[in-house]
Amino acid sequence: MTIIVTGGAGFIGSNFIFHMLEKHPDYRIVCIDKLTYAGNLSTLACVLDKNSKDYKPDWAERFRFVKLDICDREGVFKLFEEEKPDIVINFAAESHVDRSIEDPGVFLQTNIIGTSVLMDACRKYGVERYHQVSTDEVYGDLPLDRPDLFFTEDTPIHTSSPYSSSKAGADLLVMAYNRTYGLPVTISRCSNNYGPYHFPEKLIPLMIANCLNDKPLPVYGEGLNVRDWLYVEDHCRAIDLIVHKGRVGEVYNVGGHNEMRNIDIVKLICKELGKPESLITHVTDRKGHDMRYAIDPTKIHNELGWLPETKFADGIKKTIGWYLDNRSWWEEIISGEYQKYYDKMYGSRGTL
Ligand code: NAD
Ligand code: DAU
Repeated sequence: MTIIVTGGAGFIGSNFIFHMLEKHPDYRIVCIDKLTYAGNLSTLACVLDKNSKDYKPDWAERFRFVKLDICDREGVFKLFEEEKPDIVINFAAESHVDRSIEDPGVFLQTNIIGTSVLMDACRKYGVERYHQVSTDEVYGDLPLDRPDLFFTEDTPIHTSSPYSSSKAGADLLVMAYNRTYGLPVTISRCSNNYGPYHFPEKLIPLMIANCLNDKPLPVYGEGLNVRDWLYVEDHCRAIDLIVHKGRVGEVYNVGGHNEMRNIDIVKLICKELGKPESLITHVTDRKGHDMRYAIDPTKIHNELGWLPETKFADGIKKTIGWYLDNRSWWEEIISGEYQKYYDKMYGSRGTL
């Protein structure tokens, strides 16, 4: 079995590759990644770098990395011709809402056009399954005063940001390729992930890194927005189940009923790291900021028996522990180009 995983040098894609190499000793994984600012080869050290203390020869011999843009039609078709994959799982995306608000163009290119290129290659070479890793953000947001409401697979698509709109556009294309060409597709729509290798522009790793550097903790607005957090390994297990046992043409929501307000997460991180809450700085809100996300995971539970295994209280401790043990991974990232991004996004942001 050969599986092409796109975006595998990023946060969830890399965790998924490690999950698959561990759980399926007879699978080969071919990772395609453009290595944008969010992709790091150091994340894949355990399968690429013989000198790394984490190197796993048994995984490495079943792994291939190819630096490739999913929008590069010729390159993608050539790789499919060579590899003849059985399954293709598309994690590759521009993934940060704030960046999409600054510059939507590349989101449309990678998230929509890239998806269509991959599916065209799947049509030409034939695959057992094309799986699209989507997001709960395609459903828009829920009001804070209606805790009884959740996103189901039937909730209408109703996006807020250029990022979520590009993901929704891709989802529509995926369903169209199923109906029009009979491509065997599935889609997963997951809530917010956290865990190892999460790029430090996102809430949890940004707050951990800033806490450790005694820097201000920039909470957008009052920090009352709610996200439904899931440990990344639980998401990886869900995708593994969907590609093997999920029904073709179906969407599966993935989430663990773990709603938290941003401000409470930031306070928890301060507490775990022994840092004062006075580091918290309320800054100008994100434009079009979604209020609450909350997934109803009944379908994936009933059909595939999936349940989250990691409780937030344990997952956040493990995550903080990982950032403490792997300082060089994130310190290298935040020391380069990222600093320019940080100054642009936060330098001129007003405080409340
Ligand atoms: P990430 O930003 O950490 O990683 C994205 C990866 O894709 C990077 O390695 C990057 O180099 C690569 N990439 C970007 N453009 C590419 C292109 N044109 N061609 C090839 N590779 C390219 O993202 P993530 O948080 O790991 O998210 C992965 C997927 O999961 C995305 O599709 C995202 O929409 C979805 N998702 C994320 C979350 C979350 O909480 N992070 C939740 C639900 C769904
Ligand atoms: O719900 C799934 C989505 O979760 C994924 O599709 C996206 O790829 C992923 O980035 C994530 O989107 P969010 O916008 O929810 O994640 P982010 O970590 O950027 O922000 C989480 C919340 O924290 C959000 O309400 C904004 C807030 N925030 C974020 C940052 C970076 C702050 O208050 N301060 C910050 O500095």
